[in-house]
Amino acid sequence: MDFQHLIYETAGSIAIVTINRPKALNALNRALLLELDQAFAAIADNRSIAAVIVTGAGEKSFVAGADIAEMSAFDLAEARAFSRLGQRAFQRIEELPQPVIAAVNGFALGGGCELAMACDFRIASVNARFGQPEVTLGVIPGFGGTQRLPRLVGQGMAAQLLYTGDMIGSDEALRIGLVNKVVPAESLIEEAKAIAGRIAGRGPLAVIAAKAALREGSNLDLNRAIAYEAELFASGFATADQKEGMAAFLQKRKAEFKGE
Ligand code: HXC
Repeated sequence: MDFQHLIYETAGSIAIVTINRPKALNALNRALLLELDQAFAAIADNRSIAAVIVTGAGEKSFVAGADIAEMSAFDLAEARAFSRLGQRAFQRIEELPQPVIAAVNGFALGGGCELAMACDFRIASVNARFGQPEVTLGVIPGFGGTQRLPRLVGQGMAAQLLYTGDMIGSDEALRIGLVNKVVPAESLIEEAKAIAGRIAGRGPLAVIAAKAALREGSNLDLNRAIAYEAELFASGFATADQKEGMAAFLQKRKAEFKGE
């Protein structure tokens, strides 16, 4: 896939999507968000991809937010449309059947932090910095940040970050559960690929079902959510992967999953 503002690469069954506007610290403009939406629509239909990594080009920034130069002249209708465009693109990432890992290689501010939060989980380089600085610009997050941040780090911590606009470093992000792991900058992509590779080696249909249970379940009350889990668990028994996975365990050999 060819894009102006993204680099799309594959390594075996892992896709790597790199946000590529390094001169603007990978800030998100409308054209870029449309490309991101297209890229993830294509990945959703491509079952040869088992997991996705999202990262930023360059050593300094993951994504330093929405493009302030583009946004500055928006009228109300344009601002609303921009918010909805980003929300749609990020929802597509969140709802992608395959898992998505954010490899946060530097600034993840505003829309960049929101992009990272739409991924399934985040690993970060030691130089990563997170924040929702929108209030310093006289606005609030508009790509889901006011909703995903409290779900990830709790109401109180989210409130502090949203009201102060302060940035936090990778250690603090790890402490509050915003990222799962912090690694040296030079090993970030290798680490992300290693985790993605382990995911890719599991039963693909089971991984997709696990993501569906996790994501859909969080929108349901507990009774409905566990009923949904039981349905997904049972549907695993209609797959060849379940037969292979359990037979391989009993025969003390490695499973050869086919995603069927
Ligand atoms: C447009 C940006 C940008 C952004 C950086 N640049 N962030 N351009 N939009 N969000 C550009 C700068 O203008 C500059 O361009 C170049 O990238 C390098 O940035 P510097 O500021 O010179 O780098 P540095 O001094 O190291 O500071 C890094 C920084 C700072 C701390 C990340 O750039 C910064 O504060 N950026 C804005 C962060 C922010 O407020 N994000 C939230 C945006 S609002 P030139 O041409 O001068 O070299 C948002 C809302 C989302 O995300 C929801 C919308 C609905």
